[in-house]
Amino acid sequence: MIKADRLAGGGAASSEDAAKDALLTALRENPSEWTSLERAARRLGATPAAVRALAAGLRDEGYQIEDDHEKGLRLVVPRNRLIAREIRRHLNTRVVGRRIIVLDSVASTNDVAWRETAAGAPDGTAVFAEEQTAGRGRMGRTWVAPRGSALLMSVILRPDLDAQHGSLITVMSAVAVAQALLDALPIQPRIRWPNDIMIGERKTAGILVESRNLPAGSAYAVGIGLNVSTAPDDFPPDLRPIATSLAAEAGVSVERTVIAQAILQELDRWYRDLNFGDYARIAQRWRELSSTLGNRVLLIENGEEWQGRVLDISLEEGLIVRLDEGLTRIFHPSTVTLRHLPG
Ligand code: BTN
Repeated sequence: MIKADRLAGGGAASSEDAAKDALLTALRENPSEWTSLERAARRLGATPAAVRALAAGLRDEGYQIEDDHEKGLRLVVPRNRLIAREIRRHLNTRVVGRRIIVLDSVASTNDVAWRETAAGAPDGTAVFAEEQTAGRGRMGRTWVAPRGSALLMSVILRPDLDAQHGSLITVMSAVAVAQALLDALPIQPRIRWPNDIMIGERKTAGILVESRNLPAGSAYAVGIGLNVSTAPDDFPPDLRPIATSLAAEAGVSVERTVIAQAILQELDRWYRDLNFGDYARIAQRWRELSSTLGNRVLLIENGEEWQGRVLDISLEEGLIVRLDEGLTRIFHPSTVTLRHLPG
């Protein structure tokens, strides 16, 4: 298991956890001002030494708290840093995000999610990292993002879902991410089947859903890579024409914590529908948010190319396409790469 000081949320908060929250509240009352140790200690009903220890613990979690011998403590509001406790703050979810892990550098957050699953992490556990050294995408591709510029996250889901509905997790996750971005920012995200979140013709996020059959049932790692503040020139040259970031599209600076919260919130909401078996509602929202439905597409499967027009999506089987030859065929998301065609 990951060290407890990198975690937030989960069941009843420990008294130390509650004391840390109380200290943050006290420090936030005087933003950018000093709070004397004695005053903070009185507020918390603790000794000054205990307050200092709590501040040290918060620093380990990623907070910047200055400690001046004479003036006391001062919280410097963290700008571009992911902190588990900050993501958890104001989050109002039932399952998703009830445990949050933030790490600095990992090979892949999906790997961490699988390790945590094996160690008994609860349904809805979310893993974030500032950087991945071996991020992976669909169909064996790699996923690269400059450090600190993206949301790199994986959510462990353990739904009560039969295997034939497994691809619903990808559909549900894409709906959740697109809906979260739509609500949070002045942009019009659309879902390019099966797993890309597009703004116009450029990709801003990709979703990689991996599944495993475990003795206790199926588990899924929903890996989301979302370009948040990447400047156009920071993308590798071959990606520049086809990739974008939220900040570039919205024209404002975007805080990763806010977007992380919005995604966890929406995942929780759609996951609830999924667990209630309300698949039709998920499919309907997918249709409304889709940029693929009705489009002419090129599909590449095992090196073979197919062209046609997308008629609909089947939650069990995949994309339903009327091929130019006249036949209607279904393409499963695990085997196919899709490109939109003009017309
Ligand atoms: C794709 O578009 O092919 C899917 C990309 C998914 C990337 C994310 S980043 C977080 C998580 N960890 C990974 O290694 N991959 C996913």
